[in-house]
Amino acid sequence: MTWSEELVSVQEQELQRELMSTGRMPRHVAVIMDGNGRWAEERGKPRFEGHREGMERVRSTVKTCSKLGMSYLTLYAFSIENWKRPMPEVRFLMSLLESYLVREVDELHANNVRINAIGKINALPKSVQKVLQGAIERTKNNEGLTLTLALSYGSRWDIQRAVQVIAMDVRRGKLSPEDLSEDTITNYLQTAGMPDPDLIIRTSGEMRLSNFLLWEAAYAELYVTETLWPEFNEQELYKGLASYVLRERRFGKTSAQIAPQQEQAQPRSTLERILNALK
Ligand code: IPE
Ligand code: IPE
Ligand code: MG
Repeated sequence: MTWSEELVSVQEQELQRELMSTGRMPRHVAVIMDGNGRWAEERGKPRFEGHREGMERVRSTVKTCSKLGMSYLTLYAFSIENWKRPMPEVRFLMSLLESYLVREVDELHANNVRINAIGKINALPKSVQKVLQGAIERTKNNEGLTLTLALSYGSRWDIQRAVQVIAMDVRRGKLSPEDLSEDTITNYLQTAGMPDPDLIIRTSGEMRLSNFLLWEAAYAELYVTETLWPEFNEQELYKGLASYVLRERRFGKTSAQIAPQQEQAQPRSTLERILNALK
């Protein structure tokens, strides 16, 4: 059974319809999945239990975004700085990642999800690289949601690497310094070909980007929730999306310049009423 054939409640259907009918759904959502450790500690459990529970939220988030017809979902799963954590925790996260890919790839493929990865992939254990490459290869022709996993990822690392390649291409005569534009830089980053994130969600209340998509997030809308990642269920995701569709993105212009293009069909109250009913 594919995700689109699953039964959803009438309220959820109504909410999905309302969100989509705004015509303002984000094309690209990126998530900083934070708070696994705190979730576990609050329950007197070891941190890895939080990571395990967090993996379930990865599954539900991917599924909901896919069902909503989103084009890109990028999940910050492991930062380049996370290598500094205690070795047992790093090992656990790597094995969790490997088992997620092994366990989920069939279902993701059946649901037309294209798997992608950004980050210093060659720093990952060989076994993880192998399943990751297999999953990317297997799903490369899918045309539904593009699920990008940010693994051993750091935005400064990516920018530094891109600048290095640009400099080498200048030396080789492939690129002239005069022609270097913003688009050139965008195209040398690992996120080349993806639209910038429209919405960045961060769980667990931290007000920072932690080295995530620094260049790409120039005009992203930020949504920070106190909810810890292991508790970030579909309802929480809908709240973030509803908050996003109700915002005005100005990109430096004035509200008056923007307003005529943004005839809002659904007043705030409709979305709020449905969200409340879902609680
Ligand atoms: C996010 O949860 C998962 C990773 C960074 C891999 P944390 O492990 O950072 O949880 P907290 O922030 O310590 O609660
Ligand atoms: C950011 O979370 C990285 C991921 C969610 C993978 P961290 O928990 O590592 O971030 P800081 O250290 O609190 O900024
Ligand atoms: Mg954290």
